[in-house]
Amino acid sequence: MSDVHGGADAASTEDVVELILADHREFERLFRLLRNREEDRAAVLSDLADLLVAHAEAEEREVYPALRRRAPEEADEIDHGSEEHAEGHEALLALLQVEDVDDHDTFEERLEDLVESLGHHIDEEERDILNAAREHVPDDERDRLGRAFLAVRDDLLAGSPGDARNVGRLVQAGKERGDL
Ligand SMILES: [Fe+2]
Ligand SMILES: [Fe+2]
Repeated sequence: MSDVHGGADAASTEDVVELILADHREFERLFRLLRNREEDRAAVLSDLADLLVAHAEAEEREVYPALRRRAPEEADEIDHGSEEHAEGHEALLALLQVEDVDDHDTFEERLEDLVESLGHHIDEEERDILNAAREHVPDDERDRLGRAFLAVRDDLLAGSPGDARNVGRLVQAGKERGDL
C-alpha cells in the first residue's frame, strides 16, 4: 500500500470504535478521489482495495467475535455485517476487473455500485455494531481490541490483500458460506 494518508494509522487513539470510524472516513476520502477522472484511478483503487479488505478482515477476526461475547443479543447484526463484507468484496471485485480505467462509463457504473454497497454497510455498522460496542464494551477492552484490530489490519496490509486474485478468493468463500 502506498498512499493511504488517513484512516486508523493516523488516529491518535487505541479505541477500536474510533479506529474503525477513522478508516470509514478514509474510505470516503478515497471514494471522492475515485470519482475524479483526472486522478490516477488505478493507484487509488489499489489503495482502497487493500484497505477495505484488511479492515473488514480485522473486524471479522478481532472485533465481531469480541462483541458477540459481550453482547450475544447483537448476533444477528454481527452476522449481517459479515454478509455485507462479502457483498462489498463482490462489488470491489467487479471494479477491479474493469480492464481499462479510462473506460469511464464502465468504471463509474461499478464505482457507483461499490459506493452504494459500502455506504450502506458503513451506515449500519456505525449505528448497530459500533453503538453496541459503545454500550457493552468497557474502555480498557476497547483499547485492547483497538490494538488487536490494528495488528491484524497492518499485517494484512503488508501483503497486498486487495489484489484481484485474493478478492476473488474472498468472494468465492462468501458464496460457499451462503453470504452471496
Ligand atoms: Fe468497518
Ligand atoms: Fe465492516
